[in-house]
Amino acid sequence: MKVEIENLTFQVPTFRLGPLDFTVGDGTITAIIGKNGSGKSTTLKLIHGDLKPNEGTVKIDKMKVSSLSSLQLAEKTSFVWQEIYSPMSFTVTDVMNVSGYKRGIDESKMEAALDKVGLAHFIDRDFSVLSGGERRLVTLAAAIYQDSEIMIMDEPTNFLDIDNQILIYNLIKELREKGKTIIMTMHDLDAVHNLADSVLILRDGKKIAWGETESTLTIENLNKAFNVSFHSYNTINGNSFVGSYNG
Ligand SMILES: Nc1ncnc2c1ncn2[C@@H]1O[C@H](COP(=O)(O)OP(=O)(O)OP(=O)(O)O)[C@@H](O)[C@H]1O
Ligand SMILES: [Mg+2]
Repeated sequence: MKVEIENLTFQVPTFRLGPLDFTVGDGTITAIIGKNGSGKSTTLKLIHGDLKPNEGTVKIDKMKVSSLSSLQLAEKTSFVWQEIYSPMSFTVTDVMNVSGYKRGIDESKMEAALDKVGLAHFIDRDFSVLSGGERRLVTLAAAIYQDSEIMIMDEPTNFLDIDNQILIYNLIKELREKGKTIIMTMHDLDAVHNLADSVLILRDGKKIAWGETESTLTIENLNKAFNVSFHSYNTINGNSFVGSYNG
């Protein structure tokens, strides 16, 4: 499913985002990068209809997000939040069920989704006592369980150790192979270089660059987006960006 963003603008007294125009291709990985507070999460929330734009539209599969019911939206898109709220006395199963709303309880599918993140044995645990990384993995499993065509992920690897970061990078690639369209934010520029087909670079709510990763994730654009002078090296694991702080 394509996601078309046209003239998207959001304004609050302290922050203005946009106007943003870009189209996310079906079955691709798009990464939104930029400094803290540059507008990445706000952009994702606008795409998912959690925030209403002041101007502009988001269309999923040619339909305006603003015209979809929350149930219709949940069929098309899942959302992994940057922050992880912990509803009191929710079990892992309850958290998964919120995402699998339309399916009724399908324990084998739920277990398979948890197994993807190595937590099949967590199914009956109390969500509120899990560690930060364990909660992150459960929210990713919940998105897999939801099984929508578009998957929006706000910093899917935050809280995760290096083993689980690599697990999730591989999982994101596997989801693309299955035809999922992924829109994510991520601070690790090397991972973005390795994973993303397209990149949107933001600074202070404005677009610095948008386009295919090779031509967009350049030293020149990164230097514009961050207060850092970048160098890039080819390493055995792929590209590596190194920056020195300008102050
Ligand atoms: N509803 C709102 N009211 C006031 N300010 C807001 C609102 N929503 C977002 N902002 C501000 O907009 C800016 C962008 O926020 P956003 O969460 O999109 O940043 P981000 O790029 O995701 O940053 P991070 O890397 O820290 O997650 C921030 O300065 C934030 O305080
Ligand atoms: Mg954010």
